[in-house]
Amino acid sequence: MRANARRRLCARVRYALARKGAATPVVVTTERLVLRTWAPEDRSDLIGLLGEPEIVRWLNVGVPFATEEIDAFLDRQTETARLRGWCRWALQLREPSQDDPAGVVGFCGFGCAFAPDVELGWTLAPAMWGRGLATEAAEAALDYGFRTIGFTEIISAVLPDNVRSRRIAEKIGEVVRGTVTHDGLRHLRYAAENPGPLPLPEPGIRRDCL
Ligand SMILES: CC(C)(COP(=O)(O)OP(=O)(O)OC[C@H]1O[C@@H](n2cnc3c(N)ncnc32)[C@H](O)[C@@H]1OP(=O)(O)O)[C@@H](O)C(=O)NCCC(=O)NCCS
Repeated sequence: MRANARRRLCARVRYALARKGAATPVVVTTERLVLRTWAPEDRSDLIGLLGEPEIVRWLNVGVPFATEEIDAFLDRQTETARLRGWCRWALQLREPSQDDPAGVVGFCGFGCAFAPDVELGWTLAPAMWGRGLATEAAEAALDYGFRTIGFTEIISAVLPDNVRSRRIAEKIGEVVRGTVTHDGLRHLRYAAENPGPLPLPEPGIRRDCL
């Protein structure tokens, strides 16, 4: 069996127990993390995460997210995963220590806010910053996006002042190719192209944001 096919098969059969026992498909596994689809039980973790001022500062110009916006985010991830086979996946530690959260500690994956570009984004609970976890997730998602999904190009839109995020984009091999504007804010458009070869197309997996 080819490596790509084996990886896809493994991705389909791996499952992790999310909090409160929900069986949630794991899409990507790294040394310390799983990137998995969302369960309704993740809602309270997501509300906590998106309530952090240090996150709101970069994701919503410092304005707290309304509960309806958080619910819409969760619904959108579930729907995108169903329609396209990918989304901004929930991040969970594989082996949390006693001091670490057992549930969702962030999210990382693909979205269509900058369509037609496919955008890879990352967000991590501030208590977990500085351990290289966001880079680990972003690197694995990029690799999965190229080698398993088959995107031809992946971008990351980063605000110029967001130095931590810019560093991640650089570490995973993205380079600045222009700018994109979203909600009136100019973002640096970091981009990486698929070095190939492209995997065979899979039913149910979209390779674009069209
Ligand atoms: C962006 C985010 C995920 C980074 O998390 P993190 O845990 O710091 O990420 P990592 O540890 O993997 O890597 C951060 C890198 O930035 C570097 N860094 C940290 N502070 C820095 C600073 N003030 N100036 C320059 N580089 C800095 C770190 O040294 C590290 O690089 P290194 O591995 O070369 O040392 C996190 O800050 C976050 O969730 N921010 C809020 C949401 C957000 O901005 N999302 C991205 C939207 S584009």
